[in-house]
Amino acid sequence: MKLVVDLQDKSYSIHIKPNALQSLGEILCENNLTTELFVITDENVKALYGEKVLTILRKAGLKPTMFSVPAGESSKSLQMADFLYSKLIENRATRKSTILALGGGVVGDLAGFVAATFMRGVKFVQIPTTLLSQVDSSVGGKVGVNHRLGKNLIGAFYQPAFVLIDPDVLQTLPYRERQAGMAEVIKYGFIRDAEFFEVLNNNIPALLNLVDGEMIESVLARCCSIKADVVGKDERETGLRAILNFGHTIGHALEALTSYGIFLHGEAILHGMRGAVHLSLLENKMTRDEAAISLGLIDKLNPPPIPKSISVEDVLYAMTNDKKRTTEGQLWVLLREIGDAELVRHVNEVNVREAIRYVLDYPVN
Ligand SMILES: NC(=O)c1ccc[n+]([C@@H]2O[C@H](COP(=O)([O-])OP(=O)(O)OC[C@H]3O[C@@H](n4cnc5c(N)ncnc54)[C@H](O)[C@@H]3O)[C@@H](O)[C@H]2O)c1
Ligand SMILES: [Zn+2]
Repeated sequence: MKLVVDLQDKSYSIHIKPNALQSLGEILCENNLTTELFVITDENVKALYGEKVLTILRKAGLKPTMFSVPAGESSKSLQMADFLYSKLIENRATRKSTILALGGGVVGDLAGFVAATFMRGVKFVQIPTTLLSQVDSSVGGKVGVNHRLGKNLIGAFYQPAFVLIDPDVLQTLPYRERQAGMAEVIKYGFIRDAEFFEVLNNNIPALLNLVDGEMIESVLARCCSIKADVVGKDERETGLRAILNFGHTIGHALEALTSYGIFLHGEAILHGMRGAVHLSLLENKMTRDEAAISLGLIDKLNPPPIPKSISVEDVLYAMTNDKKRTTEGQLWVLLREIGDAELVRHVNEVNVREAIRYVLDYPVN
């Protein structure tokens, strides 16, 4: 299956198919990306797929070089970018070189940032290997690294030449990572597609256990096509693109309050989505029935509980540090109904507090 992200002269394709890795050489050739290939990956992905990808590229007559960084969020740093610049220079990379990001969102964001900045920008390709990166971070061109004072504060919008998604690699992804990625999957149903929501609501266990390849492929495609559509309409997040932050207002606060040490990103977003649904109800945007159905889906996934030491005030305070906040106030993504999201700046503070309380009381309520 092939989708297109329509961004005029920066448009690109997303290829999704079983065993897609085998087609990597061919698609690189089709895109005239054949000289000086640098694969950037992390240690885990290198151990699982490094040799395989190098062999595929060599069989296509290409000469790849591979660099790896330690797995984990701490690699998304300027220091690691600097390490990669050095590797590229030592290996005689030029402006004609192409960087292939092979890994999850950490590798995609880091390698994309390096590609955006090395010699003022070289071509790059996203080969996402986690569920989260296949449905979210590899599409849309947000690349960047963290700063010690905050996540994702240094970055750029820089679109890849193409995205290659091989659902087969999810087989080695730990269950917990699959579940966290599933949070972003259900997000698309909530904000854009009631029918998709229904499919997910009926199939969560099968999807998490990767039992049906065709179903997985169609779910990945649906997510990517929603993301491509939203990004095509608002690449730089001046408006619509912010709906992709459904569940992230409270979710980001929880991640920060727990020093990124308890929740995987998607797990924090699950808590945040519960809050956003409850707030949609309190703000009379959503009916009680729809809110109950919504929570029913979210609660099919099981994030770790929120530490009892975190208070409503803590969450409110952490939210004021959110990058998405402007002088106009906190940005909320609320639901009018399943499949229909709205961006809201002015929300009753009493309701906000009640929604946060509701989140913090999980799993009691
Ligand atoms: N750019 C964007 O638009 C965007 C959107 C959402 C998230 N992000 C970023 O993405 C990052 C999180 O990405 P992630 O959840 O993919 O985490 P990740 O890249 O850290 O990967 C999670 C873990 O899975 C391992 N792994 C990757 N693929 C595997 C596979 N196929 N089999 C077994 N193990 C595998 C990795 O080595 C790592 O240990 C965060 O830094 C977040 O800020 C970016
Ligand atoms: Zn997210």
